[in-house]
Amino acid sequence: MEKRLEDGMKTKVIIKNVEKNFHDPKKGIDFTAVAKLNLEIDEEEFICLLGPSGCGKSTLVFMIAGLIKPSSGVILVNGKNVTGPVQTEGYFFSNLLCSMEDCS
Ligand SMILES: Nc1ncnc2c1ncn2[C@@H]1O[C@H](COP(=O)(O)OP(=O)(O)OP(=O)(O)O)[C@@H](O)[C@H]1O
Ligand SMILES: [Mg+2]
Repeated sequence: MEKRLEDGMKTKVIIKNVEKNFHDPKKGIDFTAVAKLNLEIDEEEFICLLGPSGCGKSTLVFMIAGLIKPSSGVILVNGKNVTGPVQTEGYFFSNLLCSMEDCS
Protein backbone atom coordinates (compact mmCIF):
# COMPACT_ATOMS: atom_id res chain seq x y z
CA MET A 1 0.00 0.00 0.00
CA GLU A 2 2.81 2.41 0.89
CA LYS A 3 4.53 1.69 -2.40
CA ARG A 4 1.31 2.30 -4.29
CA LEU A 5 0.82 5.70 -2.66
CA GLU A 6 4.44 6.67 -3.32
CA ASP A 7 4.28 5.68 -6.97
CA GLY A 8 0.77 7.03 -7.52
CA MET A 9 -0.24 3.54 -8.66
CA LYS A 10 -3.90 2.62 -8.89
CA THR A 11 -5.82 -0.60 -8.71
CA LYS A 12 -6.78 -1.40 -12.29
CA VAL A 13 -8.96 -4.46 -11.86
CA ILE A 14 -10.91 -5.60 -8.82
CA ILE A 15 -12.52 -9.02 -8.77
CA LYS A 16 -14.82 -9.61 -5.81
CA ASN A 17 -16.31 -13.01 -5.03
CA VAL A 18 -16.67 -13.80 -8.73
CA GLU A 19 -18.17 -17.11 -9.73
CA LYS A 20 -19.21 -18.45 -13.13
CA ASN A 21 -21.42 -21.46 -13.62
CA PHE A 22 -22.19 -23.09 -16.95
CA HIS A 23 -24.79 -25.69 -17.81
CA ASP A 24 -23.63 -29.07 -19.07
CA PRO A 25 -26.45 -30.24 -21.34
CA LYS A 26 -25.02 -33.78 -21.63
CA LYS A 27 -25.00 -34.33 -17.87
CA GLY A 28 -27.96 -32.02 -17.29
CA ILE A 29 -26.16 -30.22 -14.48
CA ASP A 30 -24.61 -26.84 -13.78
CA PHE A 31 -20.89 -26.82 -13.07
CA THR A 32 -18.57 -24.16 -11.72
CA ALA A 33 -15.93 -22.88 -14.16
CA VAL A 34 -14.69 -20.10 -11.84
CA ALA A 35 -15.28 -20.45 -8.11
CA LYS A 36 -15.53 -17.49 -5.71
CA LEU A 37 -12.47 -15.59 -6.85
CA ASN A 38 -11.00 -12.47 -5.25
CA LEU A 39 -8.15 -10.69 -7.01
CA GLU A 40 -6.80 -7.17 -7.38
CA ILE A 41 -4.53 -6.15 -10.24
CA ASP A 42 -2.63 -2.87 -10.09
CA GLU A 43 -1.86 -0.52 -12.93
CA GLU A 44 1.40 -1.61 -14.63
CA GLU A 45 1.28 -4.94 -12.82
CA PHE A 46 1.99 -7.98 -14.99
CA ILE A 47 0.19 -11.15 -14.08
CA CYS A 48 -0.23 -14.62 -15.59
CA LEU A 49 -3.16 -16.97 -15.15
CA LEU A 50 -1.72 -20.47 -15.04
CA GLY A 51 -3.56 -23.74 -14.78
CA PRO A 52 -4.62 -26.86 -16.66
CA SER A 53 -6.92 -26.75 -19.66
CA GLY A 54 -10.49 -26.10 -18.55
CA CYS A 55 -9.66 -24.53 -15.18
CA GLY A 56 -11.36 -21.25 -16.15
CA LYS A 57 -8.57 -18.93 -17.35
CA SER A 58 -10.34 -17.75 -20.51
CA THR A 59 -13.67 -17.55 -18.70
CA LEU A 60 -12.10 -15.15 -16.21
CA VAL A 61 -10.52 -13.01 -18.95
CA PHE A 62 -13.85 -12.90 -20.83
CA MET A 63 -15.57 -11.71 -17.65
CA ILE A 64 -12.96 -8.99 -17.03
CA ALA A 65 -13.43 -7.85 -20.64
CA GLY A 66 -17.21 -7.81 -20.12
CA LEU A 67 -17.85 -10.38 -22.84
CA ILE A 68 -19.63 -12.74 -20.46
CA LYS A 69 -21.31 -11.98 -17.16
CA PRO A 70 -20.34 -13.57 -13.86
CA SER A 71 -23.03 -15.73 -12.26
CA SER A 72 -22.29 -13.84 -9.06
CA GLY A 73 -19.80 -11.32 -7.73
CA VAL A 74 -18.54 -8.02 -9.05
CA ILE A 75 -15.75 -6.92 -11.40
CA LEU A 76 -14.49 -3.35 -11.58
CA VAL A 77 -12.11 -2.01 -14.24
CA ASN A 78 -10.72 1.48 -13.59
CA GLY A 79 -13.17 1.73 -10.69
CA LYS A 80 -16.20 1.10 -12.88
CA ASN A 81 -18.49 -1.87 -12.62
CA VAL A 82 -18.16 -4.07 -15.71
CA THR A 83 -21.64 -4.43 -17.18
CA GLY A 84 -20.76 -4.94 -20.85
CA PRO A 85 -17.78 -5.02 -23.20
CA VAL A 86 -14.95 -2.89 -21.80
CA GLN A 87 -14.07 -0.38 -24.51
CA THR A 88 -11.23 1.48 -22.79
CA GLU A 89 -8.75 -1.41 -22.88
CA GLY A 90 -7.22 -3.59 -25.56
CA TYR A 91 -6.67 -7.30 -25.18
CA PHE A 92 -5.87 -10.36 -27.22
CA PHE A 93 -6.69 -14.02 -26.97
CA SER A 94 -4.56 -16.97 -27.94
CA ASN A 95 -6.26 -17.24 -31.33
CA LEU A 96 -7.39 -13.67 -31.90
CA LEU A 97 -5.78 -10.26 -31.81
CA CYS A 98 -8.35 -7.62 -31.03
CA SER A 99 -8.28 -3.96 -30.14
CA MET A 100 -11.63 -2.67 -28.95
CA GLU A 101 -11.32 0.32 -31.29
CA ASP A 102 -11.13 -2.09 -34.23
CA CYS A 103 -14.04 -4.14 -32.96
CA SER A 104 -16.50 -1.34 -32.18
N1 LIG B 1 -19.79 -20.83 -23.13
C1 LIG B 1 -19.59 -21.94 -22.42
N2 LIG B 1 -20.61 -22.80 -22.20
C2 LIG B 1 -20.43 -23.91 -21.45
N3 LIG B 1 -19.27 -24.25 -20.89
C3 LIG B 1 -18.22 -23.43 -21.08
C4 LIG B 1 -18.32 -22.25 -21.84
N4 LIG B 1 -17.11 -21.62 -21.86
C5 LIG B 1 -16.29 -22.40 -21.14
N5 LIG B 1 -16.95 -23.49 -20.68
C6 LIG B 1 -16.39 -24.54 -19.83
O1 LIG B 1 -15.86 -23.89 -18.67
C7 LIG B 1 -14.65 -24.54 -18.25
C8 LIG B 1 -13.53 -23.53 -18.26
O2 LIG B 1 -13.24 -23.19 -19.62
P1 LIG B 1 -12.11 -22.15 -20.02
O3 LIG B 1 -12.21 -22.02 -21.51
O4 LIG B 1 -12.25 -20.93 -19.20
O5 LIG B 1 -10.79 -22.92 -19.59
P2 LIG B 1 -9.27 -22.52 -19.85
O6 LIG B 1 -8.59 -22.58 -18.52
O7 LIG B 1 -9.20 -21.23 -20.60
O8 LIG B 1 -8.78 -23.71 -20.77
P3 LIG B 1 -7.62 -23.72 -21.92
O9 LIG B 1 -6.30 -23.75 -21.20
O10 LIG B 1 -7.89 -24.99 -22.66
O11 LIG B 1 -7.81 -22.49 -22.78
C9 LIG B 1 -14.44 -25.70 -19.22
O12 LIG B 1 -15.01 -26.87 -18.63
C10 LIG B 1 -15.22 -25.28 -20.45
O13 LIG B 1 -15.67 -26.41 -21.19
MG1 LIG C 1 -8.41 -20.66 -22.48
